[in-house]
Amino acid sequence: MTAKESMIVVVGSANVDLTTFNEVFPRPGETIFGKKFDLGFGGKGANQAVAARLCGASVGMVAKVGSDLFGPATIRNFESQGIDATCVGIAEGVSSGVAPIFVDPSGQNRIIVVKGANDTLSPEDVDAAAPLLRKADTIVMQFEVPLRTVYHAVRFAKANGVRCILNPAPAQPVDFKEVAAADYFIPNESEAEVITGIPVTSADEARKCAQFLLQQGMRRVVITLGERGCLVAGPEEVELIPAFKVQAVDTTGAGDAFIGSFAVFLGEGLEEKEALSRANLYAALSTTRVGTQKSFFKRPDFEKEWRNRGGRL
Ligand code: RIB
Repeated sequence: MTAKESMIVVVGSANVDLTTFNEVFPRPGETIFGKKFDLGFGGKGANQAVAARLCGASVGMVAKVGSDLFGPATIRNFESQGIDATCVGIAEGVSSGVAPIFVDPSGQNRIIVVKGANDTLSPEDVDAAAPLLRKADTIVMQFEVPLRTVYHAVRFAKANGVRCILNPAPAQPVDFKEVAAADYFIPNESEAEVITGIPVTSADEARKCAQFLLQQGMRRVVITLGERGCLVAGPEEVELIPAFKVQAVDTTGAGDAFIGSFAVFLGEGLEEKEALSRANLYAALSTTRVGTQKSFFKRPDFEKEWRNRGGRL
């Protein structure tokens, strides 16, 4: 472990995940029995904040939750983990974000997000959180809140000299000019494909897609490739960082584990390549447990795995 402590602020979503584990999916008009159900805190933003916290960073969250049962519980969840939730507001008369999730026997998931209060997070909320955001070494964002808020936060990060990691998930058409100032643009394969129109089914295609994104003005692109690892591309080089083998039971939240941990490893001052390799392992380990936030490893347990696997660089 490194001595420098990282300070991460996430501007993003918080959901409650309602996950069912099923052998098959129902056809139209059909009712079937699922095998198991899990209720947990989720949302891409919240998951990334929790991953960063479990990796040992100081973490703050800028978000909106609903004025329902889930809203105050979500805030308590942040607080109980030691995440600064002073910039998490309650949107009156609006439901919290929720995500029905369906996991098949191979661990693959299908997710429907109902954004609820996440959709009320505004540029003004970002401005109100300025004192917290200015303390960060890295601001992390996703696409589960309004894009105008994301674009505003990217501008804030740039204007204040704070590193900015943008995870364009779930995928939506992007105004590249608005996000070009982000230090890292990190989609997964399917997000990269939706955003660029370039299919990403192999490392070679990921390379072409990353080069396209660089041509649109992105500074550094990382495309996460699941069990193939991730591909990092900058103006001078493109490199595949291999994955670690694990027995996956539920891949939900693995992308968030990757983003949250990568932000911390970079913030601690590790070289980019080591930070990415570690994030590959942190994400892979999360797939060996059920759930999203509850599947994330604590830092000492992660370090043990990293050492056991000989830290692949
Ligand atoms: O990335 C996984 C997350 O996507 C889930 O926690 C769900 O809430 C959706 O935001």
